[in-house]
Amino acid sequence: MSYFRAHVLVCAGTPCMLKGAGAVKDALCREIERAGLQEEVRVVETGCLGPCDDGPVIVVYPEGVMYSKLKPEEMSRIVQQHLLKGRVVEDLVYRAEKEKAKPVVSLEEQGYLDRQYRIVLRNCGRIDPDSIEEYIANGGYEALGKALTTMTPEQVVATVKDSGLRGRGGAGFPTGLKWSFTAPIAADQKYIICNADEGEPGTFKDRLILEGDPHSIIEAMAIAGYAVGADQGIVYIRGEYHLSIERLQRAAARARELGLLGKDIFGTGFNFDLQIRTGAGAYVCGEETALIESLEGKRGEPRLKPPYPGVAGLWGKPTVVNNVETLANIPPIILKSAEWFRGIGTEKTPGTKVFTMLGDITNQGLIEVPMGITLREVIYGVGGGIPNGRGFKLAQTGGTSGGCLPKEFLDLPMDYDSLAEAGSALGSGALLVIDDSHCIVDVLRSFMKFFQHESCGQCTPCREGTARLYQLFSDLAAGKAGQDAVQLIKELCQTMQLSSLCGLGQSAPNGVVTALQYFEEEIQKHVAGECPAGVCRISMGSRAV
Ligand SMILES: Cc1cc2nc3c(=O)[nH]c(=O)nc-3n(C[C@H](O)[C@H](O)[C@H](O)COP(=O)(O)O)c2cc1C
Ligand code: SF4
Repeated sequence: MSYFRAHVLVCAGTPCMLKGAGAVKDALCREIERAGLQEEVRVVETGCLGPCDDGPVIVVYPEGVMYSKLKPEEMSRIVQQHLLKGRVVEDLVYRAEKEKAKPVVSLEEQGYLDRQYRIVLRNCGRIDPDSIEEYIANGGYEALGKALTTMTPEQVVATVKDSGLRGRGGAGFPTGLKWSFTAPIAADQKYIICNADEGEPGTFKDRLILEGDPHSIIEAMAIAGYAVGADQGIVYIRGEYHLSIERLQRAAARARELGLLGKDIFGTGFNFDLQIRTGAGAYVCGEETALIESLEGKRGEPRLKPPYPGVAGLWGKPTVVNNVETLANIPPIILKSAEWFRGIGTEKTPGTKVFTMLGDITNQGLIEVPMGITLREVIYGVGGGIPNGRGFKLAQTGGTSGGCLPKEFLDLPMDYDSLAEAGSALGSGALLVIDDSHCIVDVLRSFMKFFQHESCGQCTPCREGTARLYQLFSDLAAGKAGQDAVQLIKELCQTMQLSSLCGLGQSAPNGVVTALQYFEEEIQKHVAGECPAGVCRISMGSRAV
């Protein structure tokens, strides 16, 4: 057995791979061999490390120095200077914007992990996702063992309930409560579904969790199965997530080989296995009942609720649907206790949240922070602020169906209740930052284009409402809107919120409603033929009256 004096972790998450991480890794391995270090230094492909915009990224351990924006030709310097002589290659080191002036010693001092608290991403970027041994060495499958051998199903449900964990798929519904509806039902078959559809534009956290730590989801699904009495799991995953699918398949196969999936797990008589099903790219199929319809081979259209899936879901059987990030919290809660989890985040929303930061923000990528952190801390702290000397205009939290929050909300705590009070949502965790060079009408027009395209068309308020809203914002952007445009928009939004059948139509107007609260003057100026940001191509000649 070899003992390595250094490990180089190469981020093999999709964003880094798209930026050439494969070629960087090949060059690194070649240079290590050329230097005769192959018995001393081990190169490991790992999951997402977080600073996606700065890829390809590697981390050299034991020092924990992260290098970013790497090119294959730079690998010889890293090998010759760092790995052979122990000297950090300063100009290639990743540094959070605020730390740029300081000399670098370790990952923590690079500012990268500042304010972050990693529960969900505990293994991402730290272990090889294809190695069940590394997962087990880091405490993997211990929670499943603990649940099966020392806890009753009722105790597992009670622990999750006591932890206060709320669903991370969007609605924030308490997970333990959801499980407690399904657990007591007597049924010949129950299902656990992991919702990995992730159709929200700008959201890619579930993809990177699955790429970086697939076993944590398998373990969590088995624990959920034990808690509610289900022996079958299904991961419904977005079809384009090729790497996540491959790693998940390999992980499930290894878990089966070691008896951690299948029959009589840990010799307790508990059976659980899972299958992976791919979605075809419809945003609405992430809605749990549309997802179930799709799994049943039907068109992915939402069902009327009740009955809820927990009572009558897949094939009419009790079905728990949970998001990837929700599930990733389960093993640590079982291992470390509900009280431990409650000690992180806020009283009403314990734990952490994984955000994908994008738009006009310096450090784009994936972060995990305690619930209750303010927008200001995320944007100007972890996010490194707004680039190019521009000012902050708004942040959209929760994805396309979230609200548009102006600078007055920068000190708002990020949790389900605070954001809902402000007219926005925590949603899927997409955080879109928009600087003052953008026009609110142009932004809303692009949101509405998305919803018009993704509405399944089943109910009139959403089918017609999204199309009309897109038309009205296109008219405003072109300077062709009538004097009553804003009033019409307000009425349409209200109708959609009150009478659409599912969450898509009900929440599609959220961005518009908040924009009308905080940016109405700018919108009204478009009615008068003016775009204050100078973005819209307004043609005064063709305005409607
Ligand atoms: C239009 C629409 C799309 C959704 N997309 C997703 C998705 O991609 N992933 C997800 O986990 N939940 C999605 N949801 C929420 C699910 O319906 C459901 O609430 C969630 O999967 C439950 O898991 P949780 O309790 O762990 O959050 C979506 C909801 C709506 C209305
Ligand atoms: S609200 Fe929209 S997406 Fe949902 S059922 Fe109605 S038409 Fe379909």
